Amino acid sequence: MNTRKLAAALFFAFTAVSQTHAAVTPTALQCNSLVNPIGVDTPNPALSWQLDYDQPIARGIKQTACQILVASSPELLAQDQGDLWDSGKINSDSSIDIAYAGKPLATLANAFWKIRIWDQDQNASAWSAPQHWTMGLLSASDWHAKWIGRDDPLPTANVPSPARWLRKEFSADKPLRRAVVSFSGLGSSELYVNGAKVGDAVLSPALSEYEKRDYYVTYDITSMLKPGANALGAVLGNGRFNSPRVVGRNGLNTFGWPKLILQLHLEYADGSTAEIISDESWKFTDAGPIRANNEYDGEEYDAQKEMSGWASPGFDDSKWTAASLASSPGGVLCAQNIAPIRVTGTLKPIAVKEVSPGVFIYDMGQNMVGWCKLSVIGTAGTTVSMRFAERLHDDGTLSVENLRTAKVTDRYTLKGGGLETWEPRFTYHGFRYVEVTGFPGQPTLDTIEGHVVNDDLASNGSFESSNPLLNKIYQSVVWGTRGNYRSMPTDCPQRDERQGWLGDRAEESLGEMFIFDNHLLYKKWLQDIVDAQMDNGSVPAVAPHFWNVYNDDVTWPSALLIIHDSLREQYDEEAAIVRDYPAMSKWIDHMSTFVADDLMPKDKYGDWCMPPENPKIIHSTDPARLTAGPLLGTTYFYYDLGLMSKYAAIAKQPADAPKYDALAARMKSGLNQKYLNTTASQYDNGTQTSSVLPLAFGLVPDAQHSRIVDSLVNSITKVYHNHIGTGLVGAQWLNRTLTDNGRIDLAYTMATNTDFPSWGYMMNHGATTIWELWNGDTADVQMNSGNHVMLVGDLVIWLYQDLAGIRSDPAHPGFKNIMMKPMPVGDLTSIKASHESPYGHIESDWHTDGKTFSWHITVPPNSTATVFVPASSANSVIESSHPAANSPGINFLRDEPGRAVYQLDSGTYDFQSSTN
Ligand code: BGC
Repeated sequence: MNTRKLAAALFFAFTAVSQTHAAVTPTALQCNSLVNPIGVDTPNPALSWQLDYDQPIARGIKQTACQILVASSPELLAQDQGDLWDSGKINSDSSIDIAYAGKPLATLANAFWKIRIWDQDQNASAWSAPQHWTMGLLSASDWHAKWIGRDDPLPTANVPSPARWLRKEFSADKPLRRAVVSFSGLGSSELYVNGAKVGDAVLSPALSEYEKRDYYVTYDITSMLKPGANALGAVLGNGRFNSPRVVGRNGLNTFGWPKLILQLHLEYADGSTAEIISDESWKFTDAGPIRANNEYDGEEYDAQKEMSGWASPGFDDSKWTAASLASSPGGVLCAQNIAPIRVTGTLKPIAVKEVSPGVFIYDMGQNMVGWCKLSVIGTAGTTVSMRFAERLHDDGTLSVENLRTAKVTDRYTLKGGGLETWEPRFTYHGFRYVEVTGFPGQPTLDTIEGHVVNDDLASNGSFESSNPLLNKIYQSVVWGTRGNYRSMPTDCPQRDERQGWLGDRAEESLGEMFIFDNHLLYKKWLQDIVDAQMDNGSVPAVAPHFWNVYNDDVTWPSALLIIHDSLREQYDEEAAIVRDYPAMSKWIDHMSTFVADDLMPKDKYGDWCMPPENPKIIHSTDPARLTAGPLLGTTYFYYDLGLMSKYAAIAKQPADAPKYDALAARMKSGLNQKYLNTTASQYDNGTQTSSVLPLAFGLVPDAQHSRIVDSLVNSITKVYHNHIGTGLVGAQWLNRTLTDNGRIDLAYTMATNTDFPSWGYMMNHGATTIWELWNGDTADVQMNSGNHVMLVGDLVIWLYQDLAGIRSDPAHPGFKNIMMKPMPVGDLTSIKASHESPYGHIESDWHTDGKTFSWHITVPPNSTATVFVPASSANSVIESSHPAANSPGINFLRDEPGRAVYQLDSGTYDFQSSTN
């Protein structure tokens, strides 16, 4: 047992009232929220850490000061010499996002760093384990490489196009000290060095507004090089750059043929350096085995055309042509500072059935996103096809109707001569079922293996309750969320769309942040949105704007403001608010020009996908069900203005706030004048959403508040017979609004319903991810995805914040202080949930039998919690067998009806209370 564990054990054995802790060691060090990143292009990277701990966590662990050392070599760092930066002792409890403030760091500079802290007793910790980062190419003039490829005329039809292959040999004449390669291969690319793939990213680099910004990735490839002859090889797929659709209803913007820019920096042991760059000396072919690649349509691979050794020295490339210089995509080259997309898991099929001679249907058991690896033995020239879909027809055949024009077919042509395994690289599919045809012989369950493909984000939370249906819905949300990350959040992964629709994530981003560590992904996507903004301030509904959807709607572009708020709440991310404040205020100014009669009339999508009156239709046409567009526009714009007032302070533009406040006041009075019907005690036609939004945003006059709550309750109970009646806009606030207004019971009823419309209905009709439509089993296939996130609404937020009671305190964001107020409801007898916050592991694990409430809590080091223990009186509250008020680390704050409120230091706690 280490000293800290021993201290903790002693502590719990004797429950001493005061305790001295062994100082904790900083751990989980991150630079720009990444572990040991290579290719950092911000001059002052942000450094973060957590305080190491074991379970149970000792109480009251705090950082009171810290010291950061940054050195140019591991040796200097080992001698405690921060030649780049020695911060000295900084008296601060801050352990996230401390900006590097040392000597300027040069392009490709290495920085080695460590940190120690002083704890609550002023004890200095040991130094953390050393970590490092490497700078990227910091300015345009650092790039000496040229874009290469072949700029053929742009396609005017949706024609399949092969992958492009580029290669270059070079010699490393002297012993190498370091080799760092930076490259951008658009649309998607893989780099090979001496025959081996560099890294394990797929569908790389990240998508972007190509004409504004192009991402490059950086790898240290020192160990892959050898003295003498070496070879580099790049294979380029179309990705979204050479658009998957150029014409047709779903035609997308296209940017050109795949192209590469690459710069390899060689540092020899004698101190000299050399550079290998992409230029006309590279060789080019498109005659390789990938005959066609398209993210929507699939990949075709002819193994007979493999070019053995193409990325190794000595390959005969005499049939290849010289690479041509290609036009620049036009954007600034930026380091990709988000986790790459990877194969993050595998699934074995659970069944296979031959539905007609030679047509085999596999069931993966889960609606997943990625592709399949094929294993096959057969004769050269045989072609095996795999086609993917979310559903089957009644006769067991594949149902591809809801995929629109996406052909979703991968084809492999065998080279013959033994076992062949293959998986595609430049496509992906959303599917549960796979149709295999052309297979030589009888395929088995081992013939294909599902490879799950998504941004490789750490899992950030867990949720389990005593209600199996709720757990199943939650797991479906997890699958759907991860499958809709493709270096941007997408609406769906399967049909010919797969776009970054803003509205879907204005709705879902906060809930997702409890499940996945998507901090950097969302920060990057906000940059995409800003990059897509028009000069006049208009923000599109889709970003990057592969489609030109600039319609000056309010609810969808509000994502730009709302996601910033979510990032601040969950991650204490303020730098991004400062970065994007000019764009946000420009959008507000632009949208303000549409204000008329103190209302914001602009609304394009309504309360998208509310449950319709007829199971066969997509959108309701019943005026009683539809929420007025200007009501949506005005309430959302009011909410946006409130966010802007807050952001003005964060961005140090306080003089702007009165402008936002004044306009917000006009929205409030305009809304109430036009839509509040005090006679009928409802807003407009009394839809659920028309009550939810004014309640959620604080727009309802006090005197009318309880009546509007009644109006909402009436719609749910009487009009919709205890069912949800909102689309994605209202759903985002529905559960929380009910809970805040004393009707969590209704939220629970709706969350656990099993008939239409409900999440339970989806589960009972075979869903393993959330559908795009409440009536997804019966509606028109033209818009009927089986894997959308938007109808999740605020369910996940509510599961974590209200049912489990894990919420970041807005006054101390990033979970520096945690507000823990679990809400036992309905037949729930237990919840066990956790969240990995910037400070570490938070846990809430409660059980109730209706009389006693038992609650196990973990508050990570260097954070605190305000806990609201369900209790008939504070006198009944016990913690670890002692009256709670006397327990160490606990400060009694007050009694509230049905709750005893305490302030907790970090630590692990076990509460017990009587609740009746
Ligand atoms: C997408 C939605 C999106 C909507 C807006 C749909 O096609 O799939 O998720 O928000 O369009 O129009």
